[in-house]
Amino acid sequence: MTKIITIAGQKGGTGKSVTAVNLATSFALFEKYTLLIDCDPQGCSTDWSGIKAFDYNCDIASVLSGRAKFKDAVVKTEMSFLDIMPAGLNLSQAASKLAKHSGNEKILRLFLKDVEGEYDYVIIDSPSSYSFLTNTAMTAADWLLVCMTCRHNSVEDFHNLLRTIKNIRKAHDVPLKLAGLLFNRCETKGKIQSFIKKQNLSDVKKLVYNTFIPNDYNIKQSIDLKIPVALHDIKSPAAQAYLSFAKEMHFFFK
Ligand SMILES: Nc1ncnc2c1ncn2[C@@H]1O[C@H](COP(=O)(O)OP(=O)(O)O)[C@@H](O)[C@H]1O
Ligand SMILES: [Mg+2]
Repeated sequence: MTKIITIAGQKGGTGKSVTAVNLATSFALFEKYTLLIDCDPQGCSTDWSGIKAFDYNCDIASVLSGRAKFKDAVVKTEMSFLDIMPAGLNLSQAASKLAKHSGNEKILRLFLKDVEGEYDYVIIDSPSSYSFLTNTAMTAADWLLVCMTCRHNSVEDFHNLLRTIKNIRKAHDVPLKLAGLLFNRCETKGKIQSFIKKQNLSDVKKLVYNTFIPNDYNIKQSIDLKIPVALHDIKSPAAQAYLSFAKEMHFFFK
């Protein structure tokens, strides 16, 4: 069964887009059929995967506004196991029209039925600020992966997110669950542990993945080059961490 995972986190800059691109790439390198859906008008996942505007005619905005079929907006990448549904600034306009009618948050979930069983993993990147699109991305998923850093997050943000999950489950009758917490841009396990203690997050300790993503200059370089970090330097600490993390997540779902 396809695992649909939305990358969430309420603060900007926690590495949602970096994680969406590099987790999707890692799954693909393990020969898992993966679809990366960019649900953020900033289009970072699209851009950082090397997809250019002239590579496609339809994007997620075309799908959500009913101008294209889901499959017409799926772009093949150079990796045979990785497809991408791109996003651009026009997604903001499409979203503000759709946001006028309640219930439209379920639209991406409904469209995903068109590719049911075709992928092992669907990874959805979502915007940072709480909006119709974050709601849409979360409603589409069965699982939520929360990105955290030892700098940005607080216990309050995390509990807000838990409340949002509850509200979405209730409002749209969907089985959304927490797939766990991934720490990004961290130096050591010890620092993560003392952050968890300081932030009063001890009750969520068991939800934190063993793998964490180090702060690695190779991420910045891969963003500049517009390629996933594993295709830039597979031996880099970040590429190795994302590969380990994909393995750990795959094991979590087994
Ligand atoms: N592990 C990392 N190592 C180094 N830089 C990182 C790492 N993760 C994220 N960054 C930097 O942080 C910026 C914000 O990350 P991004 O994925 O866009 O966050 P979000 O999507 O949550 O807003 C990126 O542009 C990148 O420069
Ligand atoms: Mg982002």
